[in-house]
Amino acid sequence: MKILIVGGGGREYAIALALKRDESVECLYFAPGNGATDELGVNVDIKDFEKLAEFVKKESIGLTIVGPEAPLVEGITDIFKKHNLAIFGVSKDAARLEGSKAFMKDFLSRHNIPTARYIQTSSIEKADEFIDTLKAPIVVKADGLCAGKGVIIAKNKEEAKESVRGMLNGESFGDAGKSVVVEEFLDGYELSIFAVCDGENYKILPAAQDHKRLLDNDEGPNTGGMGAYAPTPLANDDIYAQTEEFVIKPTLKGMKDEGMPYTGVLFIGAMVVDKKVYVLEYNVRFGDPECEVLMPLLKTSAKDLFYKAATGRLDEIKLEFKNEFAVGVVVAGKDYPYKNSEPKPITSKAKISANSHVAYAGVDKKEGVIYASGGRVLVCVGLGESIKAARENAYDLTKEISFEGAKFRNDIAYQALR
Ligand code: AMP
Ligand code: GLY
Repeated sequence: MKILIVGGGGREYAIALALKRDESVECLYFAPGNGATDELGVNVDIKDFEKLAEFVKKESIGLTIVGPEAPLVEGITDIFKKHNLAIFGVSKDAARLEGSKAFMKDFLSRHNIPTARYIQTSSIEKADEFIDTLKAPIVVKADGLCAGKGVIIAKNKEEAKESVRGMLNGESFGDAGKSVVVEEFLDGYELSIFAVCDGENYKILPAAQDHKRLLDNDEGPNTGGMGAYAPTPLANDDIYAQTEEFVIKPTLKGMKDEGMPYTGVLFIGAMVVDKKVYVLEYNVRFGDPECEVLMPLLKTSAKDLFYKAATGRLDEIKLEFKNEFAVGVVVAGKDYPYKNSEPKPITSKAKISANSHVAYAGVDKKEGVIYASGGRVLVCVGLGESIKAARENAYDLTKEISFEGAKFRNDIAYQALR
């Protein structure tokens, strides 16, 4: 089978590596891919979804897998389905679970799914009133997509009220902040839990932890994620059971009942407070860098998993994972997350090994040389029989690969190892 992967980051690179382990995968295409995916398949430069669907038909591509949220929110799945093409990714309607925080919070509340107490409003007065009922810190979120940057944790009520004003008058996040969600602060630890869903059935994956802050000890600004590991010992059987019973099942049922069956990845940004699971947010796709540590742990064929999910037949497969751990260390450019740095050539002495590999993300290729060009440039992934061993393998790999200005955190997986 030929497969198209939409996207061009480390997540899509990791999905490609997993697909290539299945010999029945003939050829991979990437739209748009990056400067390293052309070594795994063919990069396709077609942005228009109708034209991309035509290309998929012409090339007899049997499955399309969508990596990032933007094309889902823009409706790529609906267009491909109209053309009777198999696509793994949620519909435009379902993508609102990520595209609008207000939609997501209201959905959680309609279906009694545990989440932080909140108000969604465009009124400064109503927001102020609700803020006065909360204890600091207070969380203020812009409604729309802000590439992970629309969340402010205000230290006190005044700062919360100021943040609301900044968003509602369009200063902070433009249109994305025209409506806000104000919510109570949940004080616990975060997990990234993923379920692959086919509209009706689901398969839950081992829980991962991301590291959102730029610097060691969770200091510095928020980023898209500086590293991840899985499975995390911070998720025990009870946490998985709660997540399935109180989060995944009511979500799939709710989405189906509301006329938008959920076919794609359900990414639960969970906060565990006093052993209880709360939903902080939903995303409608794999996390990046979580995907880079989950894909190498898959024992089941990634092609089977995504194809069965896309065609409503997930109940036909058994999802199995290796009895190992994976740690991924994101190597970012000098100016991340503030701006893109000038492209720098990447030198690599890394050898292909069973215990470690690189997932390329923000890279370009010029005259055969791979350049670091994006914010998060690549992920060094280590595997091992313990988290400690996996982490050593990941950090060993960071020494083999370099570019000017490269930076990374030194404490990925610390919550599992302390
Ligand atoms: P979100 O985009 O909603 O995932 O928010 C980004 C980050 O802000 C989360 O990963 C949390 O670290 C933090 N956060 C969001 N909402 C809350 C909350 N209600 N309580 C505590 N932390 C939160
Ligand atoms: N790593 C978190 C995200 O992809 O949103």
